[in-house]
Amino acid sequence: MALAERVAREAGTLVREGRPRRVDVAATKSSPIDVVTAMDLASEALIRRSLASERPQDGILGEEEGLVAGTSGVTWVVDPIDGTVNYLYGIPAYAVSIAAVTGTPDPATWTVLAGCVHAVEDGRTWTAALGHGAFLDGAPIRVNDARPLAESLVGTGFGYTERRRVAQARVVADLLPRVRDIRRIGSAAMDLCTLAGGGLDAYYERGLSPWDLAAAAIVATEAGATVTGLRGAPAGQAMTVAGPAETVGRLVALLEGLDADDDAPAEQDAVG
Ligand code: IPD
Repeated sequence: MALAERVAREAGTLVREGRPRRVDVAATKSSPIDVVTAMDLASEALIRRSLASERPQDGILGEEEGLVAGTSGVTWVVDPIDGTVNYLYGIPAYAVSIAAVTGTPDPATWTVLAGCVHAVEDGRTWTAALGHGAFLDGAPIRVNDARPLAESLVGTGFGYTERRRVAQARVVADLLPRVRDIRRIGSAAMDLCTLAGGGLDAYYERGLSPWDLAAAAIVATEAGATVTGLRGAPAGQAMTVAGPAETVGRLVALLEGLDADDDAPAEQDAVG
């Protein structure tokens, strides 16, 4: 946890001090709006160097450069800037996210040992280690007690492809009248950490990658959240739902009823 925090802070300094007044897009990924900036690449390079010099036997899975396997059984899962679109526009909600996991670096099977999410602009830093609790700037944090969905503030996010967004828009349209309100912060890691400290009552999102999830998931679970998928699956790409257990139970049932883990519900499939 200490190493994750130290390296996340180092990368945060680079990202903050190196931000030009106007940020350019260096490349795109799943669609023209799924952007990579030069700073995503530079931040990941710094993180890889720092982790490798301290822990040369460990693997590293990063959003931009993929997996370099290790031999120790530990893999660092790294998002050099989570909330890249916010970074591009100067909206101050982006973070560096670093976690250590054992097993295959896949949310379906991994065990997250420790993690750190460092919010670059305001410096808020969430840390957690398995069985040792979750902290914001060193002070213990806890999720809110469960409340009815109608009184719950729910965070979510959207993917980058048109097909995924059509499905996500359908789900959010159904959910919005049933909850206190919806928040779309723009960084999945910050959503989950905000939830961990009581700033949201629940969170769900389809399409999270391992680096969006690893560090923030341990912060949320160590703060007392249930973090899961739908239909008995673990949290991951198909769906991530988080919050106090009772709220998650209600939200999971609702999302399953809406087929929120399916981009093309039955009637659309039939049409083609
Ligand atoms: C994205 C953010 C966003 C979420 C997307 C992620 P990136 O990560 O976490 O909140 O809705 O699903 O891809 O691209 O900024 O690292």
